[in-house]
Amino acid sequence: MRLLKILVVGAGGREHALTWALAQSPQVEAIFVAPGNAGTSWPALPGRAPATNVPLAVDDITGLLQFAQQQAIDLTVVGPELPLTLGIVDQFQQAGLPIFGPSQAASQLEGSKQFAKTFMQTQGIPTAAFAAFHDYEAACAYVRQQTQRSAELVIKADGLAAGKGVFVCNNAGEAFSALHMLLVERTLGAAGEIVVIEERLAGPEVSLLAFTDGKTVVAMPPARDHKRINDGDQGPNTGGMGAYAPAPDVDAALVEQMMQTVLQPAVTGMAQRGTPYVGVLYAGVMLTPQGPMALEFNCRFGDPETQVLLPLITNLLEVLLACIEKRLDQVPLQTTTGACATVVLASRGYPGAYPVGLPITGLAAQSISLTSANQADLFIFHAGTAQQQGQVVTAGGRVLAISGRGEDLPAALARAYAGVHQVHFAGMHYRKDIGAQTP
Ligand code: AMP
Ligand code: GLY
Repeated sequence: MRLLKILVVGAGGREHALTWALAQSPQVEAIFVAPGNAGTSWPALPGRAPATNVPLAVDDITGLLQFAQQQAIDLTVVGPELPLTLGIVDQFQQAGLPIFGPSQAASQLEGSKQFAKTFMQTQGIPTAAFAAFHDYEAACAYVRQQTQRSAELVIKADGLAAGKGVFVCNNAGEAFSALHMLLVERTLGAAGEIVVIEERLAGPEVSLLAFTDGKTVVAMPPARDHKRINDGDQGPNTGGMGAYAPAPDVDAALVEQMMQTVLQPAVTGMAQRGTPYVGVLYAGVMLTPQGPMALEFNCRFGDPETQVLLPLITNLLEVLLACIEKRLDQVPLQTTTGACATVVLASRGYPGAYPVGLPITGLAAQSISLTSANQADLFIFHAGTAQQQGQVVTAGGRVLAISGRGEDLPAALARAYAGVHQVHFAGMHYRKDIGAQTP
């Protein structure tokens, strides 16, 4: 068996989970993580390939490419959307380096909301009615016209905005002020030069992530994340404060329906346009009284969904290679029974400004071995952490994602929260109601 050297691009909890999952494979010799965090480096251990951080930023495509060539990397796995939309996959492929993720053209499904909505409309994928504008007055006129029917609209910046580009509005006044911020004050710069105005839908949300080789589409267990900062879905939106999978209210028939109406037509449509989509396609879906409707696509694994999906998937490397080699129809996804839940520990102030450099206690040896023998179902995934003089300190808004796996969701949640109570840093904020109320 030829052993593989892998490069993981990214620095968050998602990338720690990817590195952990790939390191389990006996086919892996070594993993490099660029730039990684305090959790993504460990020595070779029995049954686990070593992981090493490399100080290269996720948007330094030239630096990443040079590193991959120098190290003869066999497989690169991209976590965040930014390098994908900058064309990292195209550049690696031109250099003959295998890489998992969509091309720059295919990444537009996340990189441009206008592209995604127009594409959904063309493909007949159920989604909220919409219109796109770059002119403030024209956008306001549309809002006035729409709000005669319904006062509730959603305003979205077209480009990447790290979760800050969506405004769910309760009345026309809120819509006007969102439009003013984006189109006149330009608070999001070029990302908000074009806005999409959508009809506001209602219902529970599901994150359905699928692997695809451009043709075959294989769903992961349906997941759900908690986007608001505070319990009871109060306060501002964040990157995600916790997640669980499988969502108990989403049965196999509903997953199949979302595959047939959203994910499969998206992959087929992208191939038909000549921009085949290879990688993970993540559909944010709302379960409305009219059936499942797509809110958005992401061109990558979700964060923190990955921290609950990968503990449930046992053949990640095999599936990633099958996607790249266009033979996903021959490789079934292997999953474990049971459920997984994750609780994000955030810095005080997040998603606004927050302090960094605060010592984190209670990680013990878990930051290296991740799971100890008697806690095989507890996973401490690092997100915004760094090593400072031999001590692990906070270095981001989302600091850790603590995942628990169990025979069902309550057991998984109990394990995750038991893990939360072992860890501490000053100002640590987390939600106490992850998975507490499933629809
Ligand atoms: P997005 O980044 O497009 O997924 O939007 C972020 C969040 O905004 C979603 O998870 C929803 O909670 C909310 N949202 C987006 N679009 C709509 C919509 N058309 N109707 C209601 N809520 C929406
Ligand atoms: N958890 C939402 C995202 O990854 O975009």
